[in-house]
Amino acid sequence: TEAPASPLTAYIGKHPGEPNVADPALLADPFGGYGALREQGPVVRGRFVDDSPVWFVTRFDEVREVLRDQRFVNNPAAVTAEGSREDPLTRWLDMLGMPEHFHVYMRGSILNNDAPDHTRLRRLVSRAFTARKINDLRPRVEEIADDLLARLPEHAEDGVVDLLPHFAYPLPITVICELVGIAEEDRPQWRAWGADLVTMEPERLARTFPAMIEHIHALVDERRSALTDDLLSELIRAHDDDGGRLSDVELVTMILTLVLAGHETTAHLITNGTAALLTHPDQLALLRNDPALLPSAVHELMRWAGPVHMTQLRFAAEDTEIGGTPIRRGEAVQLLLVAANRDPRHYDDPDRLDLTRHPAGKAENHVGFGHGMHYCLGASLARQEGEVAFGRLFARHPELSLAVDPADLQRAAVPGSWRLIALPVRL
Ligand code: HEM
Repeated sequence: TEAPASPLTAYIGKHPGEPNVADPALLADPFGGYGALREQGPVVRGRFVDDSPVWFVTRFDEVREVLRDQRFVNNPAAVTAEGSREDPLTRWLDMLGMPEHFHVYMRGSILNNDAPDHTRLRRLVSRAFTARKINDLRPRVEEIADDLLARLPEHAEDGVVDLLPHFAYPLPITVICELVGIAEEDRPQWRAWGADLVTMEPERLARTFPAMIEHIHALVDERRSALTDDLLSELIRAHDDDGGRLSDVELVTMILTLVLAGHETTAHLITNGTAALLTHPDQLALLRNDPALLPSAVHELMRWAGPVHMTQLRFAAEDTEIGGTPIRRGEAVQLLLVAANRDPRHYDDPDRLDLTRHPAGKAENHVGFGHGMHYCLGASLARQEGEVAFGRLFARHPELSLAVDPADLQRAAVPGSWRLIALPVRL
């Protein structure tokens, strides 16, 4: 595992015995580490990077309850005095070295807003992500996957190819960029920006973020003169024609969010899921014998090896409690999806990968895409990409195997996410 990124590094070991997201032991073994917290209680007190308290919510039922509860908000400005610099989001952005100007963009994000702004933003984009629209995309997603798979042998060295850059990243990047309307020649740049942002390193952020914002402004100006039927054009119309239903900042932040959220996570569902299947040959055989199992398999791979381990912070808008633990107004709450998804109170034998666990037609039985108001907008797209990726990969390359010992697979030490640095396989 790589060394954790600053500013988290400075934080390690500062409060021995208290959980914090930068703890190398938690980063190396989140299932064991966060699982142990879950068995301590439904809510465990820890610290945020700036020393303020964070309540970790660990169990399936409590995680879903909090995510449904409107007394826990995403925008901490709602629970601090107007204009105060004291809210945790501002402190966090300050710590990352983000200039004030960029706080403004973060505040325009769908994820940092609550009703009624969140409702307005979500309504504007959700039309592009309905089940029907996503289903219509399937043939194109299959075509992109097949093209990439056909070219995999070109990237092999001594029979070994890394699936991350040659399959897992380009599939969702191509899909989301086509949907939003990002030109092909700009996609490698977006990929590089995404890679910079997820490191959360202040210097990289300070370099990357302004370049991205500038690029998006230019993109918007250019598209404005020749609108099409892509999502970018639709958002520009909502901004220009439609009574300002989208502000300048919201428009830019939405584009940024969609493109980054649309590929960074899905790529790691594809690699985590592939690694899981390759290390569980009995489960892979089940899937091979019955391709109708794919939707259930993707649910299970999301539960067992989902790429997002925690949500954004929530903040208590009033004095309240979770599972009997008092939470005071303004305090931050971290929902541990990774612990909830392996909660033995909710699942039989939770650490076992079992692709048959999720009967068709039943409600999604995991929290890997979150829950409630901010439930992942792209979940049906991501699931479809997962189904296509696993289905096509194992059909085209039936002999696929890991090229390294499973214990030698390297993961990035980024708190809250579960991502491989590479996935070397033999075709
Ligand atoms: C929200 C996970 C793919 C767009 C979320 C949340 C999670 C999540 C956990 C909720 C965060 C919170 O409540 O704090 C994932 C995973 C993915 C994935 C694991 C892939 C496997 C996508 C894709 C898109 C997308 C493909 C493309 C549009 C969004 C957006 C939100 C969101 C816009 C914010 C929704 C809101 O605030 O209402 N995602 N996501 N995600 N996701 Fe995804």
